[in-house]
Amino acid sequence: MPRMVTITVDGARILTPEGSNVLEAALEAGICIPNLCHVPGVTPLGACRVCVVEIIENGRRRLTASCTLEARDGMVIEAHSENVMRARRNIVELLLAEAPNSRAIQDLAARVGVTECRYPMRNNTCVLCGRCVRVCDEIWQSKSLGLVGRGPSRRVALPFDVRPDLCKRCNNCIQVCPMTITPCPGPLTEPAICARCESQTSMVENIPDTCVMCELGRGFQCARWQLKGLDARA
Ligand code: SF4
Ligand code: SF4
Ligand code: FES
Repeated sequence: MPRMVTITVDGARILTPEGSNVLEAALEAGICIPNLCHVPGVTPLGACRVCVVEIIENGRRRLTASCTLEARDGMVIEAHSENVMRARRNIVELLLAEAPNSRAIQDLAARVGVTECRYPMRNNTCVLCGRCVRVCDEIWQSKSLGLVGRGPSRRVALPFDVRPDLCKRCNNCIQVCPMTITPCPGPLTEPAICARCESQTSMVENIPDTCVMCELGRGFQCARWQLKGLDARA
């Protein structure tokens, strides 16, 4: 049985198994830290940095991804400080520039308060979050997908670009991809986030109090959706 440790996130004391990741501990406690590449139960990759938090140690503060941060006893974390929110907004803005038509990223942008984008738009179809690759490998033990190449040529690929016999045709890679949530028509015709719909404008920060059970949260298994699942089974 793992040793339990106490960490503090945004002033809330959370009991969690030692070594568990801080993002999951916070989500389980109802502290909604936005995230993108995280998949519950799958090895964290730390690719997107959306889950950035500030760790306070010996009077010093540093920013780090919470999904790859292991919980240690006495750890003090700020998940919504000014520094964090500024960094998170910038990260999301960069993601928005990469994939402005992704509904998941549009929702994420609204959630952290990004309403315009200062970077050149690209309209990529993949943001290299690695969710598909890890789900294929760790949940389906298939290893049909991999991240290949470096820098601008990095991409998700099948071996020799052909679907291998190993592929179980589960389609889970597609289901977990943030690019496959049906986009709303607004962003397809706007240069950046429009944030006109009710669900988006009410989702900016202060979650979970203002949580509207967004589709992004459902796709990413946020704590609210997990609780709803539990209620439905009750
Ligand atoms: S459909 Fe194939 S490639 Fe996709 S997750 Fe399933 S096994 Fe992997
Ligand atoms: S294909 Fe989708 S899930 Fe896979 S790395 Fe790209 S954005 Fe992520
Ligand atoms: S969710 Fe932590 S780096 Fe992507």
